[in-house]
Amino acid sequence: MITGAGGQLGHALAEAFPDALPLTRAEWDVSHPAPEGLDASLVLHAAAWTNVDGAEDDPQGAAAVNVGGTQHAAALGVPLVTWSTDYVFDGTKRTPYVESDPPSPLGAYGRTKLHAEAAAGNSAWVVRTAWLFGPTSHNFLRTMLRLGAERDEVAVVDDQRGSPTYVGHLAEATKQVTDLPHGVYHVAAAGDCTWAGFAEAIFEEAGLATRVRRITTAEFGAAQKAQLAPRPAYSVLRSEKGAPELPHWRDGLRACLARLDLV
Ligand SMILES: NC(=O)c1ccc[n+]([C@@H]2O[C@H](COP(=O)([O-])OP(=O)(O)OC[C@H]3O[C@@H](n4cnc5c(N)ncnc54)[C@H](OP(=O)(O)O)[C@@H]3O)[C@@H](O)[C@H]2O)c1
Repeated sequence: MITGAGGQLGHALAEAFPDALPLTRAEWDVSHPAPEGLDASLVLHAAAWTNVDGAEDDPQGAAAVNVGGTQHAAALGVPLVTWSTDYVFDGTKRTPYVESDPPSPLGAYGRTKLHAEAAAGNSAWVVRTAWLFGPTSHNFLRTMLRLGAERDEVAVVDDQRGSPTYVGHLAEATKQVTDLPHGVYHVAAAGDCTWAGFAEAIFEEAGLATRVRRITTAEFGAAQKAQLAPRPAYSVLRSEKGAPELPHWRDGLRACLARLDLV
């Protein structure tokens, strides 16, 4: 069974696990207990509140989905895979975060995801990943392709560093994760970059001439005229526990653009 099947990871999981039952929010709102009669041997729990800034305004709403939803998924009583985030870390390190590093989330979204890790229980694989993108749903890649088609220049944050991870690679790697003992694993693309570096690579690979103006997070926040949630300045993830290694983020970018017929 796949929860959150309407999301970008949910779509990729449905492709990687063609025999799974994909459930969208309309079929199971995970902030409520599972509907009667659901039967599964494994739950791929991809449903989540992923609006990082929105979680600051409504932390209880975010917790109802992220913590409550994970409790409800775990209550099915079968093995569970759930995805957590690099945003459980505060970003003060300058070498990759490994599984034994102490979490210290900066914002409400990261706090709910950290509580969700605990709510997953002992029969769960908790896969911390980062900066997801894919051919569907809302994500940075799709936003950049839209802006790149409209503008000569886009201002992009250059003081947050992470590993943009293609959901297709992550979904495939999930099969190997379930061969490991239950626990927390870091699974993100190899390599790292800033959002500005990622944007430049997107324009280059997609054949767009759009320029990237590198700005700070503070400049971006001022331009948005909105109070944005704090985000870690550095959140590269690596595994010290033998989690599957993913291809480089640039390979993920090319694979995703190929899906969109853009390379
Ligand atoms: N996106 C990232 O950069 C990132 C980074 C690290 C970790 N993660 C984690 O990876 C997982 C997958 O994220 P994603 O990028 O695929 O997110 P996404 O594209 O936002 O998909 C999340 C899905 O969950 C659904 N959902 C929200 N509330 C729900 C509810 N109450 N009941 C059932 N479904 C609900 C959403 O439905 P609607 O479309 O109707 O809202 C959406 O289809 C999440 O656990 C996320 O925290 C994401």
